[in-house]
Amino acid sequence: MNKMLDWVDSRFPLMSLWNEHLAKYYAPKNFNFWYYFGSLALLMLVLQIVTGIFLTMNYKPDAELAFGSVEYIMRDVNYGWLIRYMHAVGASFFFVVVYLHMFRGLMYGSYRKPRELVWLIGMFIYVCLMAEAFLGYLLPWGQMSYWGAQVIISLFGAIPYVGEDLALWIRGDYVIADATLNRFFAFHVILVPLILLVLVVLHIMALHEVGSNNPDGVEIKKNKDPKTGIPVDGIPFHPYYSVKDIVGVTVFLMLFAGVIFYAPELGGYFIEANNFFPADPLKTPEHIAPLWYFTPFYAILRAIPDKLMGVIAMVAAIGILFALPWLDRSPVKSIRYKGWIYKLALTLFIISFFGLCYLGMVGPTPIKTLFAQIFSAIYFAFFLLMPIYSKLDKTKPVPERVTD
Ligand code: HEM
Repeated sequence: MNKMLDWVDSRFPLMSLWNEHLAKYYAPKNFNFWYYFGSLALLMLVLQIVTGIFLTMNYKPDAELAFGSVEYIMRDVNYGWLIRYMHAVGASFFFVVVYLHMFRGLMYGSYRKPRELVWLIGMFIYVCLMAEAFLGYLLPWGQMSYWGAQVIISLFGAIPYVGEDLALWIRGDYVIADATLNRFFAFHVILVPLILLVLVVLHIMALHEVGSNNPDGVEIKKNKDPKTGIPVDGIPFHPYYSVKDIVGVTVFLMLFAGVIFYAPELGGYFIEANNFFPADPLKTPEHIAPLWYFTPFYAILRAIPDKLMGVIAMVAAIGILFALPWLDRSPVKSIRYKGWIYKLALTLFIISFFGLCYLGMVGPTPIKTLFAQIFSAIYFAFFLLMPIYSKLDKTKPVPERVTD
């Protein structure tokens, strides 16, 4: 075994990669619950790719055959139902994990210097993930697939002058049709996953260049043992966190299996009932809503009466997250040492985000639209006022070493 390793190592930097990223990557010793979600996101990415490959073996990207091929996978392919439910439920779990992963970054100021690039690459991952989910949702060619894509692509039509032509170009036809399905399939199975994989590698490389943040927001690299040069508050990622992450993976897979085996549609939140009907271009469903992970942004879109302004607000709601590293002017990183203003702002932000998530799922009424407008205002205020309130906020002194 050692001989083989030596043989490889003299031809490829295997051991140096292993050491740099695992055995000698010193991570802060105070990682908590919130630090499980990076490795879980990685797990979900692998699971989606593996189950996706098996689905592709029996799926037919053809408007005449797509719906039937999914039914065939569910009923006739050995364990096809399992593979399909893992993939469809997996999409929702991926977003749960990524939202919690992002929220951790928000709480502990992981986007702050020197991790701005880690955050920015993360944001590109998030946008790609949304594109991937949107593209994949058209493939089963159900009613919601069809009309969901119809609504979103028609939003491009709101862009002045070029909008209608742009929507036509994206669809490849005057309505969502076979050409649309074919290109969405190509993007969903190869282009976007490829970009995602590259971005995830860059994300981890950027993180390992600067080192991980932690719940205290203390830079462990500033306090190194003079003899060894190792951060005094650092422990090797492997075996300490590789083993700890197995605990997270085990609990996560139990929950994942619970949903797959007992409630794969999760009452319509993970798979919508209307998608069990084949796409019918002549029959618009009464209520069209995207899946839960898009609804906060969908609610912002609908909160604004003007279509173009709504589209701008929706894009801005995602775009503003890119600017986060430069909006926070607090002298401390972690929420543990921030004052009441930040804690209040974050609480209002969370309430608004969940509120928008709910409002985007249900049909609009005047009172619901009013709430969507209030929540949208709070959502934007959280970011736009951050340069002011993060400076005004009275912070607590940050300790020299991490608290264990
Ligand atoms: C496919 C999706 C993603 C994967 C596989 C992934 C993977 C990882 C991994 C393995 C880590 C190190 C472990 C950890 O700190 O939890 C990490 C850290 C981090 N990620 Fe991600 N990530 C993804 C998406 C995102 C997104 C969407 C954002 C934010 C926009 C983001 C922001 C960060 C930040 C700021 C850190 C550093 C955290 C710290 O040191 O406190 N990631 N990511």
